[in-house]
Amino acid sequence: MPTPVNVAVIYYSSTGTVATIAKAIAGDAERAGAQVRLRRAAELAPQAAIDSNPAWAENVRATADIPEVSPDDMAWADAVIFGSPTRYGNVTAQLKQFIDTLGGMWQAGQLADKVYSGFTSSATAHGGQESTLLALYNTIHHFGGILVAPGYTDPTKFVDGNPYGTSHVAGQGDIPVGEQTLTAARVQAERVVKFTRAIKAGLAAES
Ligand SMILES: Cc1cc2nc3c(=O)[nH]c(=O)nc-3n(C[C@H](O)[C@H](O)[C@H](O)COP(=O)(O)O)c2cc1C
Repeated sequence: MPTPVNVAVIYYSSTGTVATIAKAIAGDAERAGAQVRLRRAAELAPQAAIDSNPAWAENVRATADIPEVSPDDMAWADAVIFGSPTRYGNVTAQLKQFIDTLGGMWQAGQLADKVYSGFTSSATAHGGQESTLLALYNTIHHFGGILVAPGYTDPTKFVDGNPYGTSHVAGQGDIPVGEQTLTAARVQAERVVKFTRAIKAGLAAES
């Protein structure tokens, strides 16, 4: 029987693009045999900002049933796949705020030795997808995490072209997540589950 693995997909999304990718990755990880928790970071923006953008308000409504992330989800997970839209080439404040509440767990060594990976979306192709994922991955080094990025480990990665993680160019919200991004999501989820299982089984065999 394969080693059971727990995967937490933890994301923030304003207008739904990253939420769509998060759901895809969660489903793919489940199909790859993992136990999965799909969790969203708490909203920090004022209600007036949300209400001023119909797509934002709609995404808040559409994802209300997805539980808000808590530190317990980090403790539970063998692997964490973080998702954030790019904001000025960086991680959103909402996801970062959650990460910044984890100082106690970090200090206790509870975030180390897990597998981590990330995904993002941006308005434009050169708008900072790579810098967002690399900024996110800085944190993983501090955690003592094991970064499992997709690289070019599957022929489809030469098509989407992003070895750092799944990413989507959303335009002004007028370019929906399509086959290319969904394929990248599947490749990343399967790779994370495969290596999480292998690392967990290997460590168990050593102890
Ligand atoms: C404050 C702010 C900053 C942004 N910065 C960038 C950016 O640097 N590059 C870019 O291509 N898109 C940028 N965008 C666009 C978002 O990345 C894009 O709308 C997002 O990926 C959509 O994801 P979501 O639907 O999950 O919210 C920015 C959007 C906002 C609101």
